[in-house]
Amino acid sequence: MAGAMLMSTALAQPDTGGFVNTLMPQPAHMTVQTGRLTIGAAFTVSTDKFRDDRLDGAIEWSLQRLKMQTGIVFPAAPAGTAGTLVVSVDGPGEAVQGPDENESYSLDITPRSAHLHAATDVGAMRGLETLLQLVQSDGQGFWLPAVSIQDSPRFRWRGLMIDCSRHFEPMGVIERTLDGMAAVKMNVFHWHLSDDQGFRIESKVFPKLTELGSDGMYYTQEQAREVVAYAGSLGIRVVPEFDMPGHSTSWAVGYPDIASGPGPFSIERHFGIFNPVMDPTRESTYEFLDKFVAEMATIFPDPYMHIGGDENNGVEWKQNPRIQTFMREHSLKDTAALQAYFNQKLLLILTRHGKKMIGWDEVLTPGLPKDVVVQSWRGFDSLAAGAKQGYSGILSAGYYLNQMDSAADHYRVDPLPASTTLTPEEQTRILGGEACMWGEYVDPQIIDSRIWPRTAAIAERLWSPRSVDNIDDMYRRLWVESLRLEELGLTHISQKDVSLRALAGTQNIDALLPLASVLQPVTFDTQDAYTESHDITTQTPPDTLEFALPPDPPSRHDFAEMVSTFLQDPVRNTSEGAALEAMFRSWTGNQPGLIELMSGSPLLSEAIPRAEQLLQLGTMGIEAVSYLSTGTPAPPGWKARQVAILDQAEQPTALVRFTVLKPLRDMVDEVK
Ligand code: ACM
Repeated sequence: MAGAMLMSTALAQPDTGGFVNTLMPQPAHMTVQTGRLTIGAAFTVSTDKFRDDRLDGAIEWSLQRLKMQTGIVFPAAPAGTAGTLVVSVDGPGEAVQGPDENESYSLDITPRSAHLHAATDVGAMRGLETLLQLVQSDGQGFWLPAVSIQDSPRFRWRGLMIDCSRHFEPMGVIERTLDGMAAVKMNVFHWHLSDDQGFRIESKVFPKLTELGSDGMYYTQEQAREVVAYAGSLGIRVVPEFDMPGHSTSWAVGYPDIASGPGPFSIERHFGIFNPVMDPTRESTYEFLDKFVAEMATIFPDPYMHIGGDENNGVEWKQNPRIQTFMREHSLKDTAALQAYFNQKLLLILTRHGKKMIGWDEVLTPGLPKDVVVQSWRGFDSLAAGAKQGYSGILSAGYYLNQMDSAADHYRVDPLPASTTLTPEEQTRILGGEACMWGEYVDPQIIDSRIWPRTAAIAERLWSPRSVDNIDDMYRRLWVESLRLEELGLTHISQKDVSLRALAGTQNIDALLPLASVLQPVTFDTQDAYTESHDITTQTPPDTLEFALPPDPPSRHDFAEMVSTFLQDPVRNTSEGAALEAMFRSWTGNQPGLIELMSGSPLLSEAIPRAEQLLQLGTMGIEAVSYLSTGTPAPPGWKARQVAILDQAEQPTALVRFTVLKPLRDMVDEVK
């Protein structure tokens, strides 16, 4: 397979006693010695200070994973003796984990023993994940390198948001996502539970919220508590979001009186921004929200509750004469001022129920109390602007997974770049960031492939020092982490072939794999334009080629790296030239089989132009390698023809785009 072949050319890591550093995220400080601690049948673990059920559970879970990884059954350490690994924890950590939880740990491994020290259970969990990532294997078996690590996060808020409104995600998806988050040391699961397209959590006080607003797809309170407990066992906070006052159609289906328009309302099936918005002028709205927040506060113990606040178009407010009169009487000059009024009242409700407020950056309006946290999604500048005004903030602009950007693109986005103009005090207000998985184009089958492995790169940006910024080294480790995540139960790799088999309607998809390996979904904007013109809704199944394919597959970065190495000296770099040629031949090798397979599938036939382009691109590559490696000029007109082919291949077709065009263009450019 082309992917595997490419991977072997990735950056080699400096060798220290055979230890290959694949840690993700990278620790703050690590020194490496040359010794090895063997992981064999005598490997035991003990605790020597504080212990509780959560810590015991975390150790047990780590040992189970180590057992799966090594095939070794580990004995319990005899009572009162020190294990091979001693876990020393000072105390349990915060009763309800918040942003100030101490997550630091140190890990010292010698050829005789390992010692993990942490102030809290949560710190110990972070250290155990590091330990599992350190495991090495070779002809002598499994072992840990002799290292000394002192580690703590750069940012204290390292989140992942999942929108479960536009598409509902069952419990299994949520739980395996939490496993993945813990593996890369993320600590906030932001659960987007309501939006225009569905209300996803049971309210016993207002049962019609889900009876009429969810199509029967929602989390019971018991399930939500289970998620909170499971996340807590992994040291992950759960911040629920109830989007208000806009993005609230699903609330109004069962309770039209809280809306500003006349109704009746129905669950929204389309994507975008809609008019239904809560009525901020009536006391009954606040009485409703007071009871609702009180109920949700019994389920979600986190100090924060997210109130959304984004994308209110104000249309229903402008169209309602009673609301217009209210605005005049209260000197509220525009709908933004009315929303600020609503937020102030909502903040009192949250405070009464022991919750701090977080909202999307639209909540940042004059007079907003300084303890509201602002989540920047519209741009980087609003984060810094908020910090200058005294607000704490987290960054999501640049971390939208649904944009279909590369891991490298996300990795380059730093909540506090070296160029920051914030004062040291203002910098302390930047709490971190959150990756956002919006739910327009995901379902339970493909969501993992949109979240992972790219989220691991974002997790590293938020945990590791700013200086950890080498893109090639990030990818080298990302592909390893991706496999570890798969072992944990995530389906981001395996789903691709499952989806391709379903699309092809046959078990034999060999002819399709070379094409599938060099395509990825189009960007969100291209997808969005298609949605508008083709009436795509929440009811449209994700069953075309784009949904089968992961964004930023290994081919993109690895091919670019390989071409760049080759082009440094095409005449001398014969092995790179040969590897490239072999890959191009895999693109051109079975064109009739590929076309036959795609023509036989109604769901794939739309993408046949991509198959035809693959043949052209492969031929171009073979010819370019030949000219470059021999230093022979191309015949007249060749370059112009190739540029035309590349330009054509850049055009969106079947909502998939090639991952390899830029390096191919570079090769063509270099031909004489
Ligand atoms: C958002 O993307 N509307 C927060």
